[in-house]
Amino acid sequence: MRSKANIKSHPLHPILICFPLAFFIGSFVFDILFLFNQNPSFQNTAYHLNIAGVIGAVLAAVPGFVDFLYTVPPESSAKKRAAKHGLLNTGNLLLFIAIVLLKRNTALDYKILVAMEAIGVIILFIAGWLGGTLVYRNQIGVDPRYADAGKWNEEYVNTNDNFIRVAAANELKLNQMKLVHAGGKRIIIAHSEKGYAAFSDHCTHKGGSLAGGAMICGTVQCPWHGSQFNVHDGSVSAGPAKKGIETYNVEERDGAVFLHLKEIKK
Ligand code: FES
Repeated sequence: MRSKANIKSHPLHPILICFPLAFFIGSFVFDILFLFNQNPSFQNTAYHLNIAGVIGAVLAAVPGFVDFLYTVPPESSAKKRAAKHGLLNTGNLLLFIAIVLLKRNTALDYKILVAMEAIGVIILFIAGWLGGTLVYRNQIGVDPRYADAGKWNEEYVNTNDNFIRVAAANELKLNQMKLVHAGGKRIIIAHSEKGYAAFSDHCTHKGGSLAGGAMICGTVQCPWHGSQFNVHDGSVSAGPAKKGIETYNVEERDGAVFLHLKEIKK
């Protein structure tokens, strides 16, 4: 699923997290060195790395939050994972802000601060592990380019109508899909050998986004665990999904493709 916060399809969040990771771990390492030899330059370096880490974490959080809202598929296992990832990182950011403020209080035992930093570094690794799962397993931020399927294609349609224009008749190549957001739903318009089809962008297994998968011969495959669905009638062609996906009526007329938003095919 292509990131919403990207530069030429390179997601910003994984680029920016390198900075707080390096700065917070660096701050912890220099504080350990200070505990061993009491050299004030180590303490000073740790303090400034700590501040740099807080700034870097705030900057990294912005595209991360954008992706949480708009890239991670709703009502999916990845959404829950992303929520945990975000909460851990937010809590950790507050912890490191508290450490910066407490470092100004020279009366406090410095070992307590270093212990707090150790906890923060452990949380960093746990949150980072979840983030890695979101990228390497759930493919959040991945922009696949399947043969003949064209580039990522997405459109937001603002309308209360039930019958909406979703594409020009020649807009999609064979086996190409387009994700349309309309009426609070995520619906994929797909061009198969049998013509146009419209179906829900929600895999019934664990909520994977089918728009990030591949379609061939009228069958779409979920990118998460490989469930396959017939794009015209929504039936399951291969598990692990057991329940079919919702499909919608589409009509081609006057050189355009129209979607009946509320009429779900039975
Ligand atoms: S979410 Fe598991 S196969 Fe789609």
